[in-house]
Amino acid sequence: MTAAPAATPRVLSGIQPNGALHLGNYFGAIRQHINLQDTYPGQALYFIADYHALTTIHDAETLRGHVFDVALTYLALGLDPARTLLFRQSDIPEIPELTWLLATVTGMGLLERAHAYKDKVANGINPSVGLFVYPILMAADILAYDATLVPVGKDQVQHIEMAQDMVTHFNEGYAHGAPVLVRPEPLVNPKVAVVPGIDGRKMSKSYINTLPIFETGKKLRKLVGQIVTDSTELGQPLPFATCNVVALLRLLCDDAELAQIESWYAAGSRDGAPFGYGHAKLLLADKIDAHFAVARARRERLLTAEGRAEIDAFLTRSAEAARKLAAQTLDRCRRACGLR
Ligand code: TRP
Repeated sequence: MTAAPAATPRVLSGIQPNGALHLGNYFGAIRQHINLQDTYPGQALYFIADYHALTTIHDAETLRGHVFDVALTYLALGLDPARTLLFRQSDIPEIPELTWLLATVTGMGLLERAHAYKDKVANGINPSVGLFVYPILMAADILAYDATLVPVGKDQVQHIEMAQDMVTHFNEGYAHGAPVLVRPEPLVNPKVAVVPGIDGRKMSKSYINTLPIFETGKKLRKLVGQIVTDSTELGQPLPFATCNVVALLRLLCDDAELAQIESWYAAGSRDGAPFGYGHAKLLLADKIDAHFAVARARRERLLTAEGRAEIDAFLTRSAEAARKLAAQTLDRCRRACGLR
């Protein structure tokens, strides 16, 4: 039998270990990943894309640090080891093997059309073969576990579509259309607006405009204080709809709180006293501080020797469970290809 079993809904996503995670990552992806453990208990799989990271990071200590940081951050923010898996991509040797099999059914033209690749080349980088075949590695990540749903940002949807093409080409090319590989669907969270960074552009490590998730106290207030606003004078009405501070407050406040803040913006005053951007920023810093208080405490505990051992054990146990799934898929693929 080379056909895949009837697909169970299974969520899978990969996280690139490429630097300290920030509020853009949290509201854009991490929060959704963690919520999916309630919707798909036992069927939410996440991995740290360390092979992918090698397309940009060539420093061993840096990579190790970033990989640990992803695991630490996810667990601190509430990823539940009882209901999810979190593993290192490189712990699954079936992934590079499936990458090769998929490469034999993937046209150069398909990869040449990848926006992410074209953007990087347009920005002047000298692409490695690894960067070029990145979408095949990503397809292998998804297909190895028969994942049906892939929560990703809009920028990654094309990569999922490419994985869909690879499924078709593999099943047609090697198995006369039998469903050896399962077709995944992207799961784009429509509610997530772009999270602005302190300069007002999309929050991104490459723009050096991020607010780290676990910053607190004075340092956090200092960073928040740098958020770009216009030059409305203290006491004057402030533009609510276009304000970067508000864009961030929206992610942390409920409707009633927002309505109240909107009234202070419209009046340029609160309870008879002038209200300006400085006050709005203090509010925002307090909101961030409070929102992540529990996660910060969990993080501190995970940083102890005992906590670190728990992280390691979770990664190892997850990799074992994930490998079982990948091995079954690879067995079907090898048979379909005639390698077995
Ligand atoms: N390319 C994704 C990103 O940059 C990370 C990733 C790698 C991924 N493999 C994946 C995401 C598989 C979803 C599924 O964000």
